[in-house]
Amino acid sequence: MEVVIMAGPTEVGAFAGGRIADVVAGNPEAVLGVATGSSPLETYRALAARRDAGLDFSRVTAFALDEYVGIPRSHPESYHAVVGREVVEPLGLNPSRVHVPDGLASDLDAACADYEAKILAAGGVDVQLLGIGANGHIGFNEPTSSLSSRTRVKTLAPKTRDDNARFFDKAEDVPVHCLTQGLGTILDARSVVLVAQGASKARAVAAMIEGPVSSMWPGSVLQLHRRATIVIDEAAASELT
Ligand code: F6R
Repeated sequence: MEVVIMAGPTEVGAFAGGRIADVVAGNPEAVLGVATGSSPLETYRALAARRDAGLDFSRVTAFALDEYVGIPRSHPESYHAVVGREVVEPLGLNPSRVHVPDGLASDLDAACADYEAKILAAGGVDVQLLGIGANGHIGFNEPTSSLSSRTRVKTLAPKTRDDNARFFDKAEDVPVHCLTQGLGTILDARSVVLVAQGASKARAVAAMIEGPVSSMWPGSVLQLHRRATIVIDEAAASELT
C-alpha cells in the first residue's frame, strides 16, 4: 500500500487526479472505475482541468461502483445522474461508454451478473477511484461483506443511510438497498486510488491501513492489492500511528 498524506482536500484531488490523468495520457482507451459521493469531487475537478489543458477522455470507458435500488435515473441523487453531472459532462466522456449498475432492473441479480460481464468484456478496470465510508465501507460493501464478493444487492448500513441523508430532502428518502461492485471485483482492478479527507474518516483510514485485514473494516482488503495508493489529507491521517 502506498500512503500519500497531503495538506488538504484540494491537494488530495490534485494528486489523485494526476495519477488517473497519467493512466489516460498513456492509454486514451483506458477503463476507469469511478466513485460518487463528496470525496472524489476534487479529483474530478483536477481531471477536468487536465481536459481543459488538452487531455482527451472521449474514448475512455467508465464503470461506476454502485447504484441505489429503486430510485429513477432522473432523480438527481441516483448515481446515474451523479456520474453524468460530476464525471461525464466535466470530463467529456462518451455517455455510451459509461456504465452504472441498473438499480431499476426487474431481476437485480441478473443485472449484477450482467455488470460483471460488462467489466470483463471491457478488459477489466485499469484504475479504480474509491472513497471510504466512516464505517470503513468501499463501494457499498458494508462491514461483514465477504472479502471476495462480486457485484450484488446489499442493504445499506444505518450509519451509511445517516451519512447520505445530506443528499436527500428527508432521511427516510435514502434508499435501503443498493447494487455494488464487490470487494473481489474492486480487487481485480489493475490499480486503485482511494481518496479520503477530514477527521470523520480518520478511524476508517487507520483501520484500512494499519488494522488487520477484516470484513469489519472492508477498506482493509486493499492491503491485499499490489497497486493501491491511499491519498489522504492530514485530518484523515490523524489516527495513523
Ligand atoms: C460511492 C461509494 C462510497 C463512498 C463513501 C464515501 O460511489 O461507493 O463508498 O465513496 O460512502 O462517501 P463520501 O465521499 O460522500 O464521504
